Amino acid sequence: MEDLRAKYIDLIAGASDEATLEDLRVAALGKKGEVSLQMRELGKMSPEDRQVMGPKLNALKDEIGSAIAAKKAALENAALDARLAAEWLDVTLPSRPTRTGTIHPVSQVMDEITAIFADMGFSVAEGPQIETDWYNFDALNIPGHHPARAEMDTFYMARAEGDNRPPHVLRTHTSPVQIRHLEAHGAPCRIIAPDRVYRADYDQTHTPMFHQVEGLAIDKDISMANLKWVLEEFCRTFFEIDEIELRFRASHFPFTEPSAEVDIRCSWEGGTLKLGEGDSWMEILGSGMVHPNVLRNAGVDPEVWQGFAFGIGIDRLAMLKYGIPDLRAFFDSDLRWLRHFGFGAGQVPTRYAG
Ligand code: PHE
Repeated sequence: MEDLRAKYIDLIAGASDEATLEDLRVAALGKKGEVSLQMRELGKMSPEDRQVMGPKLNALKDEIGSAIAAKKAALENAALDARLAAEWLDVTLPSRPTRTGTIHPVSQVMDEITAIFADMGFSVAEGPQIETDWYNFDALNIPGHHPARAEMDTFYMARAEGDNRPPHVLRTHTSPVQIRHLEAHGAPCRIIAPDRVYRADYDQTHTPMFHQVEGLAIDKDISMANLKWVLEEFCRTFFEIDEIELRFRASHFPFTEPSAEVDIRCSWEGGTLKLGEGDSWMEILGSGMVHPNVLRNAGVDPEVWQGFAFGIGIDRLAMLKYGIPDLRAFFDSDLRWLRHFGFGAGQVPTRYAG
């Protein structure tokens, strides 16, 4: 019995996992275990021997049973300690840096433009980027044969074979929004429509997709003088420069009469753009008094209503205000460029913040 005891106590002490402990329990105390077999022998003994051996065997059985239970508890504690050590976390470490995105100069400038015109009573209108021939051209007094159609380097959508209707276009300007807005809401109105437009053109100052903001103000007595004031007021506020100089050039657009293109004085020295000085002029917008045919096409009576419209190149404004020399970089998605020229959330120019 002493051998049995020594053997099991030893084996239990050396067991390294619960499965081994269970095997030992079966080997010692199971139905056919060594201690159980010894207990069965009790029946064959004389009553005197049994009285001596019985309590001893019971004590051995209890001892092995509690040794197994104690070892099991010790193994569980060790496993927990190992887990606690392995999953230890230093909550005082600084967190990993997270990269914040930036607001693209075009988005920033669109927000700025919207804020300035909102102060002057203009609300924002929208139209689709894929336009019909009618809204992009005819309704704006540009008939099929008009040279303006060719000049605009239009992208045409595909039509199914045998479908001879005029193809849809990627709108070449935001002017179709004039028609859509007047059709839906009538006169009077004061809206701007900032968004994407498309023309097949590509160089330092032209990309096939770019941005315009259309302006439209219709009422009973709106004049060219109002147009000039609005544009000058806008440029002064937007560029945050009082000495901004604008040049109104007589021009021609089929949808305005009279028409004026507006240039801004700037210099390009050393690859940097500067405003309000220099000998260069950069064209930033087209404008004029809305043509009576355009009003009529939009269901507005030109005998009662009149007003002005303008179309400003948003990307050009961004280049000028933030000194960005190449327009193409706007749409390259180069992260270094975006981090350099991008804006943080809430970075609003102070002159018209709030
Ligand atoms: N739609 C013209 C363009 O894209 C700009 C413009 C708009 C001119 C409104 C006059 C009036 O060039």
